[in-house]
Amino acid sequence: MKVLVLHGPNLNMLGTRELSVYGTMTLDELNEVIQKEAASLGVDVEIHQTAREGEIIERLHAAVDDVSGAILNPAAYSHTSRAIADAIRSVPYPVIEVHLSNIHAREPWRATSVTAEAAKGIVAGLGAQSYVAALRALEAMPR
Ligand code: DQA
Repeated sequence: MKVLVLHGPNLNMLGTRELSVYGTMTLDELNEVIQKEAASLGVDVEIHQTAREGEIIERLHAAVDDVSGAILNPAAYSHTSRAIADAIRSVPYPVIEVHLSNIHAREPWRATSVTAEAAKGIVAGLGAQSYVAALRALEAMPR
């Protein structure tokens, strides 16, 4: 089984960005947690980070024949991108949206995720464990 993991804009700045919200874990360290969990589940993961909305869409499309599911943190695009929401709807595999922070406990505008409307499920507020929970859920899903 293979899972695509996509990190959206500004997540490359983890470790120095808004420390009181996101903590000190860097993106490399987060990816290590994901890789370790994947290895223990016997799942292959392909991980990318991009600031570009179009690249998120293109990577979702390109994975159609390659993955059984995807974990997507659209970051701020969650709150605006109907294009990413439609891309999620356009692929046959389940996409789980994840957030490190609890988007419902922050500024009111973050509580709306238009991309989550298209996702199979959403995990938010658990830090790196949001990704771990999403990976376990995908691994346990019938396919
Ligand atoms: C985030 C939450 C978003 O509101 C924010 O724009 C991010 C990160 C999270 O993982 O908590 O960049 O997606």
